[in-house]
Amino acid sequence: MYCVSECPGMAVAGPYSAFVFCRLQLNNEDVQTVGVDKSIEMIEFAKKTYGCSKMDFKVLDIENAHDCSFYSHRFNKIFSFFCFHWVHNKVDSLLNMHLMLKSGGEILVNFMLINPLVELYKCMDTEWQIYIKDIKQMSQNVYSPDEIKDIFTKAGFRIIHLESSVKKYTFPDFSSLLSAVKAVDVMYSILPQHLHDRYSMHVKDKICERQMVQICPITGKIIKAYLPITVHAVKD
Ligand SMILES: C[S@@+](CC[C@H](N)C(=O)[O-])C[C@H]1O[C@@H](n2cnc3c(N)ncnc32)[C@H](O)[C@@H]1O
Repeated sequence: MYCVSECPGMAVAGPYSAFVFCRLQLNNEDVQTVGVDKSIEMIEFAKKTYGCSKMDFKVLDIENAHDCSFYSHRFNKIFSFFCFHWVHNKVDSLLNMHLMLKSGGEILVNFMLINPLVELYKCMDTEWQIYIKDIKQMSQNVYSPDEIKDIFTKAGFRIIHLESSVKKYTFPDFSSLLSAVKAVDVMYSILPQHLHDRYSMHVKDKICERQMVQICPITGKIIKAYLPITVHAVKD
């Protein structure tokens, strides 16, 4: 997630988002951003790769009201790309982001209405499920656009634009899909290295068994449907 202000400011997390912000900053010299993430590793990586005088990175759990209150009324804009589906307590997080914005400040959030990784964790064999300690917190993992609209409104935002539709992504083969899963699957940082290959086979088996993707019988291409949502809202 990224929070931006016209000096000083703040933004939030991940290499892709940091890249987007570096590009934005090239076009806007007066903007200060702070990238935040609850992961120390993610913040260290972002600092090393993208840190500069106009872009800082801080460890911050967006669900933690106490820590977020440090940034009360500080930012003009908050952005978050493909992150919010990982946040367990969306209601509290939105209240915190509302607090961190100045009056008239805007938020642009884009995320998945269903976190596909959580769907996968839920159907895994117990042998693997025991590694995911906060799986219970992920129980509300499926939202409708109306529910999202409701929690933004309850947090005090006025929605300017909300957009959601089913999208499809085509992977050239199953191993590309498994690599993409691996890039965002926290299990790989929890499991000992010698279990990675067996875990990966289990992931593949579950994806096929639950028909989470379509496989083209001729080309072997893998089609994954997903449900992104983008919300642009303002704090009046
Ligand atoms: C899949 S990554 C998002 C990728 C990122 N947007 C990028 O640009 O590369 C999800 C991130 O959300 C972060 N996250 C999850 N819950 C969070 C929270 N409550 N507060 C802050 N960051 C959180 C995780 O630590 C993780 O780095």
